[in-house]
Parts: sequence; structure tokens; C-alpha cells
Amino acid sequence: MAAARARVTHLLRLLQSAACQCPTHSHTYSQAPGLSPSGKTTDYAFEMAVSNIRYGAGVTKEVGMDLQNMGAKNVCLMTDKNLSQLPPVRAVVDSLVKHGITFRVYDAVRVEPTDPSFMDAIEFARKGAFDAYVAVGGGSAMDTCKAANLYACSPRAELLDYVNAPIGKGRPVTVPLRPLVAVPTTSGTGSETTGVAIFDYESLKVKTGIASRAIKPTLGLVDPLHTLHLPGQVVANSGFDVLCHALESYTALPYHMRSPCPANPIARPAYQGSNPISDIWAVHALRIVAKYLKRAVRNPDDLEARSHMHLASAFAGIGFGNAGVHLCHGMSYPISGLVKTYKAKDYNVDHPLVPHGLSVVLTSPAVFTFTAQMFPERHLEAAEILGADTRTTKLRDAGPVLADTLRGLLLDLKVDDGLAAIGYSRADIPALVKGTLPQERVTKLAPRPQSEEDLSALFEASMKLY
Ligand SMILES: NC(=O)c1ccc[n+]([C@@H]2O[C@H](COP(=O)([O-])OP(=O)(O)OC[C@H]3O[C@@H](n4cnc5c(N)ncnc54)[C@H](O)[C@@H]3O)[C@@H](O)[C@H]2O)c1
Ligand SMILES: [Fe+2]
Repeated sequence: MAAARARVTHLLRLLQSAACQCPTHSHTYSQAPGLSPSGKTTDYAFEMAVSNIRYGAGVTKEVGMDLQNMGAKNVCLMTDKNLSQLPPVRAVVDSLVKHGITFRVYDAVRVEPTDPSFMDAIEFARKGAFDAYVAVGGGSAMDTCKAANLYACSPRAELLDYVNAPIGKGRPVTVPLRPLVAVPTTSGTGSETTGVAIFDYESLKVKTGIASRAIKPTLGLVDPLHTLHLPGQVVANSGFDVLCHALESYTALPYHMRSPCPANPIARPAYQGSNPISDIWAVHALRIVAKYLKRAVRNPDDLEARSHMHLASAFAGIGFGNAGVHLCHGMSYPISGLVKTYKAKDYNVDHPLVPHGLSVVLTSPAVFTFTAQMFPERHLEAAEILGADTRTTKLRDAGPVLADTLRGLLLDLKVDDGLAAIGYSRADIPALVKGTLPQERVTKLAPRPQSEEDLSALFEASMKLY
């Protein structure tokens, strides 16, 4: 059986490498259904959950009308302290006032939320009896607002009920939620498009989250004008998040190789593996990152570059929201959770913080070197999109070539030199590995399975990059 499967996989690879090399047919998108080498225990279907996005410079001014159209009478606006003083929140408040919407502001969102910070927002939402929500901010504000909406609509639920197993109970969401309009102000998480809400579970010192299509925002208002206020470091780190969403979802295990096959469609995970539709979003996002990320970081007034990155974040979000991410994200959760004293510049916070995008990208050269043994064509295609000259590269070198391309990008943008530069040493590796093990929801989507020794080696290889 295993031998037969290996043979089919081998044949499929041969087929792929023998494919037409013209621009129309030379892509390496996921195999269409029917070519699956999987046995009966793996999935046979994938589902594309659509995200509602409205994009335009200044589109935030429409939020008051949207809430009016939804019949909202008592709205909760969630944001963080820093943003509450900045133009994006002002634009939302102006629109709500102009259209006569009654609202209350919750501005205590924690940058990189935790279980206590989620609970605080949930209490506010439960007491407020709101009939609609507006989240203004980056992933921290949008994720907090999704959780507040979910638990306010499920008043007896405890936090862990909906949190991903094995940390939580992973209960499916069956209660109807209130409308939520998300106004992203960073160009990174794509949270305006996803059914995911991430927080740091303090007692375990790892990040985990809630993943359900039911918590996806009703509407994302993607307004590039908000990016003009973003500090360079936030543009860089949130851009690395886009980069890794695209790379990981494109190289994830294909949906038809993921198991188990759910007995009921409600149990089919949103993170279901790479699939032909997510691939398109991921590759497109990668092309935008390649073209605009450096410009967006270096020049705050480059509205063209920042606008494209803002949209890239949504593109990648739609891709990974329906495919998933894998090792960079799985390993990033303990990197953020175990932070000691590192405080990222430009984040305006009073607690140690490794920003999400940084925690994800620092392991990317090691991760893609490791995963390229599977689907090397995709790794090579990604390297080429990111600027590598791959005309004479052999497939077996796909991993190192992609890793070098990523290192070059990070060096160019003066990113910290690996995990050692943000306060970790070899002595921390066992704890980092221990924190990665419960992240099965994403680590199982890596194209290659990993042992604890593999994870140790990946952390070790990520201590220094240059
Ligand atoms: N839900 C998802 O699908 C998803 C995906 C990836 C990451 N995440 C989570 O999102 C969080 C990170 O979110 P993020 O990277 O968007 O950053 P963030 O929300 O944590 O914000 C980072 C900093 O930028 C500031 N800021 C945001 N927008 C600004 C603007 N326009 N002008 C000036 N300052 C601004 C904030 O006040 C904050 O200080 C993490 O908790 C991460 O795990 C969620
Ligand atoms: Fe992310």
C-alpha cells in the first residue's frame, strides 16, 4: 500500500516535471481532484469560503452606512490604545456619528492578545449586548473583536470550548454571530478575510487560537489610506506575515493528502491544505510582496507600494484562510509566547514583544530548506518569484535557493540576525520544541512530517541567519 502510494506520488512528480513549460501551463498548482494519490482515509474535497472585501482609498467613510444597512442599533467599536488616537479610528467614528449610529468604544485591545485580554474584551461585549461590531486595527484588534462577538453570542461558553484542540476543546461553532465589519490598518494578517482569532495562552506560554469559518468578518473594508500612518517596522513585520502566509499555504500538504476525511462537512477544517483556488491567491500575493514590500517599508509616502501591500495582505489571507499555514507559523507560536525581554521598536507597547511577522519569518530559511524535499517545484517557483535566477537551478537545490533568497531579503531590510538576536540561545530549544508540539493543526500541514529532533534542528539553524 505504502509502496503503491509512493509510486503514484513519484509518477505524479514525473508528470509535473514533464509538463509543458509555456507560461500558461507551467504553473505547479495543486493537482485537480481525481489525480489524488490518497487512500480512503484522506480527504477528497476542499471548500472555498468566500470573504467579503471592499477596497478603496477612503472607503472607511462608508462604514456608518453599512451598519445602517445592517439595521445595527448598538455597535461596539474595538481597537487598541495607540490606534484610538490615530486617523483610522477617527475616520470610523466620524462615519458612525454622521450616520447616527449609537456605539461604544473598547480601546483596551492588547497588541498581541492573551487569554486575559480576550476575556476582558469578551466581558465588555457580553455586558454591552451589542448587535454589531467594528474592529479597527491590525490582527490584534480584529482577532479580539472576533472572539468578543463569538463569546457574547455564546454566553455560557468558556474560552477553551472553541479553542483549537489539543489545547482547547475545538467545539464547532453552531451559534449565529452578530455582523462584524473589520477595518485592517496593518498590511499583514489578512484577519479581515479569515475565520481565525489568535491569542497567547499565558499558562502554557504559547499562542493558540480559534479557527472556524463562522467567525469570519461579515465585511472587510480595506482602505489603503490607513497604511500611511504605519511605522516602517510594522510595515516590515506585517509584510513578512504576508510573505509567510503565501509561502506556507502554497507549499502546504495538498488537501487530498490530509487526513482524516471528515464524516460531516462541518468538521472539515478551514486549514485544509493547499488547493487549486488558494494557490492562485497565494502566488499572486507573493508577486506583490516581491514587487512592493521593500518600497513600502522604506518610504512612508509611497502610497502605491503601501496600497498594493494592503491588498496583498487580503489576497494572502483568502489563500491561507482556506489552505492553512505550516511550520513557520507553528514554530512562531512559542517564539512569541516565550519572549523574555525583546521589545520591538515602533510598537508602542509596555510589555516584551516579538511581533508576529518577525516570529514567523526568522525560521523561514530553515523551514523551506527542510520542506523543499517535497514539492521542490513549488519552492523553486517561489524563489523565482522572489527574484532568484533559477534558470540553471536543479530541483534538488530548490530549498537552499529559496532560503538564500529569503536571507537576502531579510538582510536588505536589516532584520535581526536570527533567534539569537531576539534573546534566544541553544538552551531554549527544548522549550521552543515543546511549545511547537501542540500546534498540530498547522504543523501537520507541513509537506514533510517532523520529529522532535527535526524541530530542534530547525530552531538551531534559525539561531543565526547571516
Ligand atoms: N486572524 C488571523 O488570520 C491572523 C493571521 C496572522 C496573525 N494574526 C495575529 O495578529 C496579531 C498581529 O497583528 P498585526 O501584525 O496586524 O499587528 P497589531 O494589530 O499587533 O499592531 C501592531 C502595532 O501597530 C500599530 N498600528 C496598527 N495599525 C496602525 C496604523 N495604521 N498606524 C499606526 N500604527 C498602527 C498598533 O497600534 C500596534 O502597536 C498577532 O496576534 C497574530 O498572531 C492573526
Ligand atoms: Fe500570520
